[in-house]
Amino acid sequence: MRLAPVRSSVPVNPDCVQLTEADLSGAWALSSIAGWNQTHEDWRLLLQLSDACFGIRVNGEVVATATLVCHGRTLAWLGMVLTHPEFRRLGLARALVAHVMEHAGKLAIRTVKLDATDEGRPLYERLGFRPEQRVERWQRSRLTSAPAVLGRVIEGAPCFDPDAEASGYDRKQLLERLVAGGDAAFERGGEAGSESRGYALSRPGRLNRYLGPCAAVSQTVARSVIEKTIARHPDTGWFWDLLPGNGSAVALARELGFECVRKLTRMSWGREIRGTEDGIFAIAGLELG
Ligand SMILES: CC(C)(COP(=O)(O)OP(=O)(O)OC[C@H]1O[C@@H](n2cnc3c(N)ncnc32)[C@H](O)[C@@H]1OP(=O)(O)O)[C@@H](O)C(=O)NCCC(=O)NCCS
Repeated sequence: MRLAPVRSSVPVNPDCVQLTEADLSGAWALSSIAGWNQTHEDWRLLLQLSDACFGIRVNGEVVATATLVCHGRTLAWLGMVLTHPEFRRLGLARALVAHVMEHAGKLAIRTVKLDATDEGRPLYERLGFRPEQRVERWQRSRLTSAPAVLGRVIEGAPCFDPDAEASGYDRKQLLERLVAGGDAAFERGGEAGSESRGYALSRPGRLNRYLGPCAAVSQTVARSVIEKTIARHPDTGWFWDLLPGNGSAVALARELGFECVRKLTRMSWGREIRGTEDGIFAIAGLELG
């Protein structure tokens, strides 16, 4: 019989190990206990995208995690910093985040960013992260009892042009992986109809369906791709994470019946990178940027 790990079994200098497929259920249990929305598939995606998903195991069970998704050397996103409630205040998160930052140093990553909860923020401040801007989680409850569409829907030809300028870095590889795992709506326009004007993606969540990322050249285009995305899943609740510095995104979320339920802080380490950001209507995820 497998015994649950106990607090006294934590070594003074715990090993930070690379997470594997075998840790997926344990990692998902940690994010679920924290009340987070990630699914098993979200964790699998992180494991596949990143060569830096680290954890600390006690008696073979993962009790703390931290992940890093790299976009070349330009920027990496730190996420899923979690410690099981029984193992908090033992320095596990500090050890893991320090390990991830050392790994980022070896990869010569110039900028590391993350979206911090109030609980996590002191830890990052001590490691040299600076606050950059607010991030907000907005939510809309299930509205009707109409059935959701079955299967994945991809509308329009994939093209992420407005994203790089708005984000300030190229994250096409991440976006392509997200399209493969969820719904997508793309909008083109211009004279020849070939100009890429915006997109919205969505994917399943443990509690609510996740809307994002969405980048668009205007609020009108954002409204169009987001409305199409939401209309396909009328029987679900939604989470939408946005940058409140973009007033058009806030106004649109309110207009579509969402309300702000949580506030976080985007933090940055290293060289400053900012995009135009007024084209970002929904981020990709608190763990993805
Ligand atoms: C935030 C969290 C990861 C910290 O994990 P942890 O393993 O307990 O953290 P550590 O023991 O390594 O503590 C590191 C530092 O974080 C800070 N810290 C940790 N827990 C804290 C708390 N509950 N309140 C205030 N500060 C806290 C302290 O500054 C601590 O430094 P210290 O050594 O001087 O006490 C953990 O509380 C957690 O999983 N919370 C829920 C999920 C979450 O919010 N994750 C952060 C996402 S950004």
